Amino acid sequence: MWNELDPDRMPKHVAIIMDGNGRWAKKRLLNRINGHEKGADAVRRIVRTARKLNIATLTLYAFSTENWQRPKAEVSGLMLLLRRFLTSERRTMVDNGIRLNTIGQFDRLPGAVRENLKAGMAATANNTKMVLNLALSYGARAEIVDMVKQMATAAREGKIDPAAVTSEMVSDHLYTRGMPDVDLLIRTSGEMRISNFLLWQIAYAELFFTTTLWPDFGEDEFRQILKAYQNRERRFGSVSPCT
Ligand code: FPP
Repeated sequence: MWNELDPDRMPKHVAIIMDGNGRWAKKRLLNRINGHEKGADAVRRIVRTARKLNIATLTLYAFSTENWQRPKAEVSGLMLLLRRFLTSERRTMVDNGIRLNTIGQFDRLPGAVRENLKAGMAATANNTKMVLNLALSYGARAEIVDMVKQMATAAREGKIDPAAVTSEMVSDHLYTRGMPDVDLLIRTSGEMRISNFLLWQIAYAELFFTTTLWPDFGEDEFRQILKAYQNRERRFGSVSPCT
């Protein structure tokens, strides 16, 4: 069928900037937390779809370093939703071969969230079918600063030769070490920005922007984007084989 996905050409790593929960709520005269609640339902749908389609790594931008500046009630509401998600989805992740991982400033998260995350990561540690990577208190510049600090320290201690630094070594010092680069980046809600997300890892990613607000994002649209991704020609800076 024209819209059938080719299982051999699925992106290995999909990253999503989930945006528009607040606007979704505002349109319905609801409060922002109601929007985030619906956003959490969309997360459940997309995780299931990604697993079903054999996507190996799914990274979701759930909370940025900048999000700490939001009103206290919204931050705690988001943390509560996150804890609920981690508890309610643990069984599904265990049963479906999904390994939970988190990237970002783990130590800045509230103790209860850290405990939920640790429990989820421990319960799913041996799963191999998909990695669900939650970006929490994540910022790409902070990640790059951390990488530079680690590598500079290693160089000072004589463990790294600065002249021999490679891009693979840089990748190995990021929060995403061991994961493939992002193949496909999706942002919902019509904003066309990267907002400090995975700056190094998206170097060759295909970018897709949709005006759909995150709570309305579902399996059909995700499949359409994957189909469009499969129709794009990725050249990685080289030329097409038939030119
Ligand atoms: C953007 O909407 C979304 C966020 C800041 C956080 C994403 C959080 C969720 C999807 C819910 C909980 C997450 C998990 C993993 C269960 P916005 O508030 O910036 O929307 P706006 O731009 O319309 O105001």
